[in-house]
Amino acid sequence: MSRKPNSKSSPSVNLNLNVRGLPQSATLRINEISAELRASGKHIYKLGLGQSPFPVPEPVVEELKVNAYQKDYLPVHGLPQLRYAVADHHRRLQGLDCIRDDVLIGPGSKELMFLLQLVYYGDLVIPTPSWVSYAPQAHIIGRHVRWLNTLPENHWMLMPDEFEKLCQKDPDRPRLMILNYPSNPTGRTYKIDELKALAKIARKYRVILLSDEIYGEIHHRGRHISIARFYPEGTIVSSGLSKWCGAGGWRLGTFTFPNSLHWLRDAMGAVASETYTSTSAPIQYAAIRAFQGGTEIEHYLWLSRRILFALGNYIHRILVSAGIKISPPHGAFYLFPDFDPFREKLARRKIITSEDLCSALLQETGVAILPGCHFGRPETELTARLAYVDFDGARAMEAADHFDKDKPLDEEFLEAYAPNTLAAVDLIVSWLHRYFAG
Ligand SMILES: Cc1ncc(COP(=O)(O)O)c(C=O)c1O
Repeated sequence: MSRKPNSKSSPSVNLNLNVRGLPQSATLRINEISAELRASGKHIYKLGLGQSPFPVPEPVVEELKVNAYQKDYLPVHGLPQLRYAVADHHRRLQGLDCIRDDVLIGPGSKELMFLLQLVYYGDLVIPTPSWVSYAPQAHIIGRHVRWLNTLPENHWMLMPDEFEKLCQKDPDRPRLMILNYPSNPTGRTYKIDELKALAKIARKYRVILLSDEIYGEIHHRGRHISIARFYPEGTIVSSGLSKWCGAGGWRLGTFTFPNSLHWLRDAMGAVASETYTSTSAPIQYAAIRAFQGGTEIEHYLWLSRRILFALGNYIHRILVSAGIKISPPHGAFYLFPDFDPFREKLARRKIITSEDLCSALLQETGVAILPGCHFGRPETELTARLAYVDFDGARAMEAADHFDKDKPLDEEFLEAYAPNTLAAVDLIVSWLHRYFAG
């Protein structure tokens, strides 16, 4: 059979206007380009895709094995025992007053976010920089996006004044704001007073907050605080297994709603029942174990945080001393370097945009990082997201477990257990200095 489209007999291309020209998600694309370069023999340092380097904790894997036989469709809102475990997790960690019925389980928090945007009728408000998929989801659904600017001197965090300025313009407009902390792409998080100030404005203008806390458990010092503590009646907490439990490919996400927002939960459940029906049964059974916590999970998290803290801060120091503008990380596995100090020199080599910067870096050094413009930053701002995940997380965890508990993991440890990530950072620095220093 011929694979070529026949212009006369094959159906013509008729795409929904909202998806016409929509590219594949930016993070996945860089991974594909990297894979192609790797296939052609080039060594690629994968600091592009934000995937946890750590294995799924052993007890959770065991639960999955034991539950492989579970084959029935589950309730659309999720397995009751899992919903209970998720509510209990938020109660234990954040003191939130939530119960089983407040929780909705979905095939990844990304899918739940899409459903939320679909069922909610109002503007989507997002600070920039922020995660790559919020805005395209709004675009697919045909929702209006309001970007809120942030400044490097505030470490790219949303300042309450900026939020209030927007709300004041049209105080009664229905709005949904997504706040993500620890942040993808910056690795930063909010201080308690900042959360309180943002919560106060959200309450004043009755803005619904979607608090994306998917990296909450990997706050490097285990000190994550949810804004839901200060604005419980208007906050939906988003979480899942993908980041802190190393199980991105398992596809399990959770939303926890206050009672006052059950109308959103129900509308999302109705759409879910007509689209994906329910989340994979064996995965839901295994997830109960993850959300129940306990000593083994706590130890796993302690090791993850220990490694990410050491690596993130080490890379931060190296990049600062190379003359790059960058804020130290608080959580997750991201840094957001700003190459602005090299702007003039980069321009001499026709590197003007963050896309130019990342593609030159990838072609010339094999280091893959993502351009800041994919996170809602202006094209000519020379920022990028660096995900420090190119290392064998299982091996690093095993070694970190035997390292002196009273000392932070040192450079020697990082060289032994995260050699690719360190080599990639050295390559960025030497590339900059070879071409652009002096
Ligand atoms: C900030 C943020 N939110 C949500 C997600 C989606 O996670 P998942 O759909 O795997 O739950 C990601 C994944 O990269 C993310 O970085």
